Parts: sequence; C-alpha cells; structure tokens
Amino acid sequence: QQHNGVSADLLAWYDTHAREMPWRVGPAARADGIRPDPYRVWLSEVMLQQTTVAAVRDYFHRFTARWPTVQALAAAPDEAVMGEWAGLGYYARARNLLKCARVVVQEHAGRFPDTYDGLIALPGIGPYTAAAIAAIAFDRAETVLDGNVERVMARLYDIHEPLPGVKPELKARAADLTPIERPGDHAQAVMDLGATICTPKSPACGICPLRDPCLARARGTAPDLPRKASK
Ligand code: ADE
Repeated sequence: QQHNGVSADLLAWYDTHAREMPWRVGPAARADGIRPDPYRVWLSEVMLQQTTVAAVRDYFHRFTARWPTVQALAAAPDEAVMGEWAGLGYYARARNLLKCARVVVQEHAGRFPDTYDGLIALPGIGPYTAAAIAAIAFDRAETVLDGNVERVMARLYDIHEPLPGVKPELKARAADLTPIERPGDHAQAVMDLGATICTPKSPACGICPLRDPCLARARGTAPDLPRKASK
C-alpha cells in the first residue's frame, strides 16, 4: 500500500528523526523486534489528549515509576492517582484512567485488547486513542487522525475546504497512506512531522521529507492550510 512512496519516505525520515519519547521504542531496539508496552502507550495517549508532549513527560515518568504495570495502577487508591494527576487538568481523564485500568485487570486478565473495537469499548478510550494504541502497540493498520495529521494531509493534497467539514476527506487521505507494515511508526511519523516541520506557521518545507509530492508546497499555499470555517 506504499503505492505513492509517501509512507516509505516518511518511515525513512522517522528512522533518523523520530523524537525521543519515554513510551517509544528506539530504532535499535525496534530492529531487535522489541515492541512498545501497551500499558505505556495507553497511559501516554490518555495523558496527551489535551496536553503537550513537553508537559506530559515528567508526569509519565512519575506515573510509571510508581505504577509500572496496569495491575499496579488498578490497585492504586483513587486519591493517590488523582494526586499524581494534579496539574494535568481534565480530571475526568484521571477517573477514566483508573476505571479503564481496573476493567483491563478484571475483565481482560491484565492485557489490553489488541484491536480497535476491543480498545474503544474501554472507559475513556475514544476513536483517536483506540486507533493510536491499536497502531502503535499492536501494529494494526488503523488511521490516527489528530490536528497534526489533518494539517499534513491538507497540505500534501492542497485541500482548501475548511475544517471541520473537511475532516472525513482528510481522514480518507490519511487512511489511504497508512501502510500495512509499521502503521504505528507511520502514525507517529506524521505526528512528528506535523509537530517539527509541517508546523502551523512557517513550515520548514525546505527540509521536509515530503517536499517533492507536497502540492501545497508547489503552489505556495502551505502556511494557509488547513482552513477553518469562520465562526
Ligand atoms: N501526540 C499524541 N500521541 C503522540 C505520539 N505517539 N507521538 C507524537 N505525538 C503524539
């Protein structure tokens, strides 16, 4: 499914430019067949839902030091988890986090479901998070759509219709690019590209691994995309 080479170019870029994150597995370990821990992927994705990578890092380290497994987290007193969460905001996320950990332990023998449908049935896991965990932890060819991915798709295909109406089309484009192999790395590559190169203002098109196929770059429209419907 790498028919246009975009995903192959993205993965090659990711192999040398991926941002280091505590829940990721680095290139050397990945080459040895080491897989990311679903518990850590889940925890990071829930923390990242409304919070930046920079802000999440320290919380992630404290959580995993104190509760290294989903079993440990499920057994934690509510107040201890709420206390460690303090400062991250959106406290419903923390309550759902605990609820989810307990369901995974009590109903799934401590193992996260390895499909989108299984994951989305869990408390606090919506379409974005289910797709992200399925792709990143279980190499399922699910399409992960967040703001970064929307921006990269709108530019790559020079799509001018405004958000939010254009979302389904952006998702279809993203799905079309999702490779059968390494879909989790692909998803994270698009997110990293959006966060570091294909940024909202002044995108660094000159060093972008997708500069050749990118239609917005060719037409000079990248900084204006994606458009948003005026309120
Ligand atoms: N934002 C949310 N999840 C992410 C991930 N796995 N990599 C990069 N940015 C992210």
